[in-house]
Amino acid sequence: MEVNKVLELQIAYAAAAAVPIIRAREAAVFSRVIQERNPKIVLELGTAIGYSAIFIASVAPDAEIYTIEISHDMAEKAREYFAMAEPEIRDRIHLLEGDAGEILADWSRDRLIDVAFLDAAKGQYPDYWRKLQPVLSDKAVVLADDVLYHGYVDGPYKDKVPRRQRTIAKRLREYIQLITEDPSYETGIYREGDGLAVSRKL
Ligand SMILES: C[S@@+](CC[C@H](N)C(=O)[O-])C[C@H]1O[C@@H](n2cnc3c(N)ncnc32)[C@H](O)[C@@H]1O
Repeated sequence: MEVNKVLELQIAYAAAAAVPIIRAREAAVFSRVIQERNPKIVLELGTAIGYSAIFIASVAPDAEIYTIEISHDMAEKAREYFAMAEPEIRDRIHLLEGDAGEILADWSRDRLIDVAFLDAAKGQYPDYWRKLQPVLSDKAVVLADDVLYHGYVDGPYKDKVPRRQRTIAKRLREYIQLITEDPSYETGIYREGDGLAVSRKL
């Protein structure tokens, strides 16, 4: 099936089943940043139903996309959509089922990552960032979704974070500090959606 048709089906499914996927305005930033780098290896943490993986494959024609998902049910759903896509797309997407932090810890230095997209456990972003550093290529870009987390990180609700969200908000603040203070990166945070951080290696 033509890739745009698969993406349309996924958007409809995500809306009906309340699965969070990248939004249209973020997708535009995505394609710009990704095409800038013409990546060969992309790593995504958090596949869900595979919408962003298929989207990335469609805007990065030379890339192999590795995508990690912890939920077996989500992984199964993603596989269904991957199977619908044309071979040119589906043959470049590699779904790894398991915990993103664990798989990342064992990532081979023979497969350096050009673009990483963090969209799995928000409370683990600082850990993902640290584990990524040795396995990123020279001109890598790291994108991280939802870093402003409903305004709890630096927005109007910063001082009104519900108790059960406090650890995540704290870890996201730590993540923002890590990426903005690292002199090897230039970072911008797009406020579309829930905050998309883009960190380009200098
Ligand atoms: C926001 S969704 C991903 C959406 C997807 N990137 C897209 O835009 O189409 C987050 C996904 O991360 C998965 N996830 C949460 N914790 C994880 C972990 N520790 N390791 C791998 N995946 C995880 C969830 O099961 C969920 O499917």
